[in-house]
Amino acid sequence: MEFKSKIKTIEWVDDYSKMVDQTVVPYEYKFVNITKGDDMFLAIRNMIVRGAPAIGIAGAHGVVLYAQELEKENLSREEFVAKLIEKAEYMKTSRPTAVNLMWACQKQIDVIKNSKSDIKGIIEELKQNGIKLENEDIEINKKIGDYGAEVVPKGATILTHCNAGALATVGYGTALGVVRSAYAKDNTIQVFADETRPRQQGARITTFELAMDGIPVTLITDGMCSYFMSKGMIDMVVVGADRIAANGDTANKIGTYTVAIAAKYHNIPFYIAAPLSTIDTSIQSGNEIPIEERSHEEVTHINGKRICAEGINIINPGFDVTPHELIAGIITEKGILRPDYNKSIAEAFSRI
Ligand code: MRU
Repeated sequence: MEFKSKIKTIEWVDDYSKMVDQTVVPYEYKFVNITKGDDMFLAIRNMIVRGAPAIGIAGAHGVVLYAQELEKENLSREEFVAKLIEKAEYMKTSRPTAVNLMWACQKQIDVIKNSKSDIKGIIEELKQNGIKLENEDIEINKKIGDYGAEVVPKGATILTHCNAGALATVGYGTALGVVRSAYAKDNTIQVFADETRPRQQGARITTFELAMDGIPVTLITDGMCSYFMSKGMIDMVVVGADRIAANGDTANKIGTYTVAIAAKYHNIPFYIAAPLSTIDTSIQSGNEIPIEERSHEEVTHINGKRICAEGINIINPGFDVTPHELIAGIITEKGILRPDYNKSIAEAFSRI
């Protein structure tokens, strides 16, 4: 039986991009229409849309929006192509860590470079490619979900960190895709969701979407995970990824590394669930992954209210890197990759 999720995070409609505004979830579940390339850049940077695969699709849509704007400038085809590629390169810089963003913008650049059409034709090809990437994202997530469900024990409690769900993708989710596919086979499984300070994606978004889909979820604060592991209450961990190096080192939301260490200590399998588009084979290890530094206010304030003394130091990296030794498997659309990751990742890419 296939699990039907009610959530579609982002989609191309006529000549604009429609997305769930994730800055207001769970207080509101509302959609915003993005009609300009620069607005898409800001929507990604300010996390109206977030999650590696979702910002990839947003970037691809953003390139179409830029193309529509440039069409009005009466440029020659050559000028149009040169300016559009510049804009697509700029879109890649809207956030630095999730490689799906660069991957999807590059897919659009490839369309522009390979097109034999006039300006109107290029825009149409970019739209169609954006829609194709959207549809593929859901299909890929379902495959990830189905492969992952095979390693979920009966009646398992699955711990997850941040939100790697339908709202971090076009729909269905990666880590929560595994949960959805497992739940369709065994409705006695449940999720423990880490709160995920500072932006609380676990509390705000993961619990929201699981509750919406009727999957049992318990919210815990970030510091509680080892306690529940020590009590035998967690059977496995599944998280998403923003960028995976060729050796399997994985960047994901800050705090993931701590969860992985705790899981190792308690002999609990720690899995990454991610599409191959999250794997950056151009880098050898996690040391090369750029880590986003976000605003200090995310740490000093909750809901607009300062929670700490004035005049103190703040550091706010958005991601950390979990070393490959702590990862039991990387669940992809091509199956579950196991150590040695250098080998299994290369082998998975050879099957694309
Ligand atoms: O800063 P965010 O909310 O974009 O970070 C999201 C994550 O770290 C997710 O776990 C990751 O992108 C995987 S989403 C399927």
